[in-house]
Amino acid sequence: MLAMEATVDKAKELAAQRSLEFIQDGMVVGMGSGTTATHFIKLLGERVQQGLKVRGIPSSRASEDLARSLGIPVIDFHDATEIDVTIDGADEVTHKLDLIKGGGGALLREKIVASASKLFVVVADSRKLVERLGKFPLPVEVIQMAAPLVARKLEALGVKPTVRRNSSGGDYITDEGNLILDCACGQIDDPQKLAAEIRAIVGVVEHGLFLGMANIALIASDTDVKELTRS
Ligand code: 5RP
Repeated sequence: MLAMEATVDKAKELAAQRSLEFIQDGMVVGMGSGTTATHFIKLLGERVQQGLKVRGIPSSRASEDLARSLGIPVIDFHDATEIDVTIDGADEVTHKLDLIKGGGGALLREKIVASASKLFVVVADSRKLVERLGKFPLPVEVIQMAAPLVARKLEALGVKPTVRRNSSGGDYITDEGNLILDCACGQIDDPQKLAAEIRAIVGVVEHGLFLGMANIALIASDTDVKELTRS
């Protein structure tokens, strides 16, 4: 790992470590996806092995597999209708705690899990904190057969969609069997408006704008963690 990557990874781990303060015995815990959430799940697994009693609802197959491998009891929405606290990463976080998520391709399940959570805590390294959303391409999950149609409608909104590819060069397929269109937006001046416009396109399953959902963000450098709260 390069020095810079190691520093960023340390920050991600620190944020994940701090997030354990929000976990108590008996809780239903939403488990996010991505490298920062992976740190959290590993740390949670250690606590479970030490006797902590929690049940987890994962936001991706990868997180589910990891949680199971660590002995964290995994449940779904048949077993619980509400999540006490969800810990998840983000690609961009504003000071108002609006987010872009979905860089890891799990935005649909992540938004479902976040929407069912009493408390949604974001864990991120400080590179993710931004004044305005939009530098990171906005992921939009779409039904496969509708993708060309949705792409044209997104272009008409002024964004530039690209079909996400996997590491072998094929289409990236989400856990739910859909495609992701990564949309270069530039600075997003009115995220609520853009979210509503994208949501109105038939064939869009979900988008990566998480507005007014996060309650707390733990933003870490490699030495300390700042806690931001949504006002
Ligand atoms: C996955 C996500 C991730 O939370 C986001 O991409 C941040 O990932 P990482 O913690 O690896 O930087 O939204 O869909």
